[in-house]
Amino acid sequence: MISNNKTLINKNWLFKDSEQAEFKRVMIPHTNKEVPYNYFDEKIYQFTSYYKKELFINDSDKRIFLNFEGVMTAFKLFVNDKLVGEYRGGYIPHFIEITNFTIRNKKNTLLLEVDSREREDIPPFGYVIDYLTFGGIYRDVYLYELDQCFIENILYDYEVLEFDNLKGKIKITPRVLINNNSDEKRYCIEFCINERTFKQEVDVLKGKKWYELNPINLENIDLWDINSPSLYNCNMKLILNEDIRDCNNITVGFRDLKIDDTGLYLNGRKVKITGLNRHQSFPYVGYAMPKRVQIKDADILKDDLAVNLVRTSHYPQSPYFLQRCDEIGLLVLEEIPGWQNISEDKQWRIQVLNDVEGMIMRDYNHPSIVTWGVRINESMDDDELYSATNKLARIIDKNRKTCGVRYIENSNLLEDIYTVNDFIHDGGDIILRTREEVTGLEKPVPYLVTEFCGHIFPTKKFDQEERLIEHALRHGRVQSYAKEHDEYMGAIGWCAFDYNTHYDFGSGDRICYHGVMDMFRIPKYAAHIYKSQKDPKVEPVIEPLTWWSRGERDKGIVFPIYVCTNCDEVEVILGDNNIGRFSRTEENIDEKLKGLKYPPIKIDLLNGDWGSKWSEAEFIGYLDEKPIVSKKFCENPIVCDLDVQLDDRKLNGTEFDATRVVVKVVDQVGNVLPFSTGCINVETEGDIDVIGPKCISLIGGSIGFWIKTLGTFKDNTAKIKITSSFGINKEIKISLK
Ligand code: GAL
Repeated sequence: MISNNKTLINKNWLFKDSEQAEFKRVMIPHTNKEVPYNYFDEKIYQFTSYYKKELFINDSDKRIFLNFEGVMTAFKLFVNDKLVGEYRGGYIPHFIEITNFTIRNKKNTLLLEVDSREREDIPPFGYVIDYLTFGGIYRDVYLYELDQCFIENILYDYEVLEFDNLKGKIKITPRVLINNNSDEKRYCIEFCINERTFKQEVDVLKGKKWYELNPINLENIDLWDINSPSLYNCNMKLILNEDIRDCNNITVGFRDLKIDDTGLYLNGRKVKITGLNRHQSFPYVGYAMPKRVQIKDADILKDDLAVNLVRTSHYPQSPYFLQRCDEIGLLVLEEIPGWQNISEDKQWRIQVLNDVEGMIMRDYNHPSIVTWGVRINESMDDDELYSATNKLARIIDKNRKTCGVRYIENSNLLEDIYTVNDFIHDGGDIILRTREEVTGLEKPVPYLVTEFCGHIFPTKKFDQEERLIEHALRHGRVQSYAKEHDEYMGAIGWCAFDYNTHYDFGSGDRICYHGVMDMFRIPKYAAHIYKSQKDPKVEPVIEPLTWWSRGERDKGIVFPIYVCTNCDEVEVILGDNNIGRFSRTEENIDEKLKGLKYPPIKIDLLNGDWGSKWSEAEFIGYLDEKPIVSKKFCENPIVCDLDVQLDDRKLNGTEFDATRVVVKVVDQVGNVLPFSTGCINVETEGDIDVIGPKCISLIGGSIGFWIKTLGTFKDNTAKIKITSSFGINKEIKISLK
């Protein structure tokens, strides 16, 4: 499914939510049921629905395939009323040949019967799970028109032979899966990389078979790294008698990766992992968000949370998301679908192996992926199952290490990396358990903490300031501790974004408030701990963890204030009083945060009495003795404006495209008013619409929503009109192409 001979067929699908209902036109990615923000019954999307499409198939002798990149959870495909097959697994692609079902030079009818129930024969189901899986055709669909012989997949194996300063000499040995239905045998494969072309004759057998090409040495290759994610376009052609029969382009990055019991080394440099877990869900539409929104999540993790690794908890995620991780240098731990439960059902266990294979075959060439998670998240030991998943992963991928996330101690280590969810830190003195304690092994093994915090300290964006601070500090403490101790490869916090969940988890409203950002990707204080670890030359950060008010904290205290910053010093001005500059002296840093690269600077001044005069404040960040960033707080904040930020103002009007809008009610100096409960109404003009409700109340002074294009491009401009209960209205122009 890598051929360039493909067409995106996301438009003009018909959908109905029951056999009796009428079809209506929809675009893919599609959710079978839009859900409310919270307090909904998750059963409302667990049903069988129908997707239909008329597809003109040209007159040719091509083989015809469809690729469904993500359909939750299983489906039957009918072409011209004939059953092609049944496909299981909502997180891996299904590449299906329909050649013999099609009629040429005619419209053909595709019909999918999509089963979005939590079926016991398909992971992650069988018992309870702490996330929702939603339903529908929620990732792209492609039509492939291919020659009788084509390249179905390529695994770009390579070795970095030597390197210096991110320049390397590499040996590439592509493994090519050729699917041949023709009687022709003598094909030529032409491989182009970095403006060099290599040719090789291959005797292709009938059927589907892997071929290892001759190794190719390349010099002076820019290695892929976190701060310089160099990618190369690999172009491969399948040629018969000078006629190109198939061709594809895959971007590949080359890196020297070593993982041992002392840590992870990327291109010779030790990288301590600072990561967050990501669920791929969004308000209202669940999983069904298009390319731009997937890309944005990766950017948020890299730019706004400054992490160096994301774990795709608990399933393979969008190809667009992973591609973006490659482009921006964000490491990935990708894992198979599942949650705690292991089923005895035969079909279920077969599906686990299908998921391992589907995940690795799809994502093999992503340089960002550093390890495969081949164990059901937090399941008990099952040596039979996990020996099989590890074996399969190692057969396909001889280079990447495997891991498997558990929470139990003394678990049988069948993988290369012992990955563990360690929720021990509850605000007290213990931050993480030791490697030896958890693994039960005397010999050191590669050891990575894959979750912490989460349900131990659920925190809402609109919780009391002190809770938000403690939430931030807990993330800081664990990251700090992992950094200070060599036995940890690093730590991955639970989690990046709040997410919808089942009634038996979360706060009862179908949300787990475990994110360092909310479901709209709006930061809580904990996000500032992460962001402030950024290189100040890339972006100086100053985020004092306070709403700056006299009586929000218990007993009316205001200090200490932790200032999350990557600056050297913070100058504090209260009213007309310049209090002075604070640097990271021993008394200004919490002992338990000192392992961080930029521990928050703790400013502990005398707390004025309840009833003492209140004033404005300013916190100024200094880098190399120069003021470079500042944050002001008002003495008497009042509603002043609606701050509206769009991720993008240019959208693709011919497809389903979407972008996020964040609205904040702000005071005189632009700070969010965190307890504001106003509401907004959103109207649109032109070929766009709002995803979810149009009448939205602010949550903790801010809210996000997404607008989408309708694929019915007529006019270049569209408008978003926001009216608010504050009497402040905004109009924003969007351009469409
Ligand atoms: C873990 C689990 C996650 C999430 C988290 C909440 O046990 O792996 O999926 O439920 O708890 O803290």
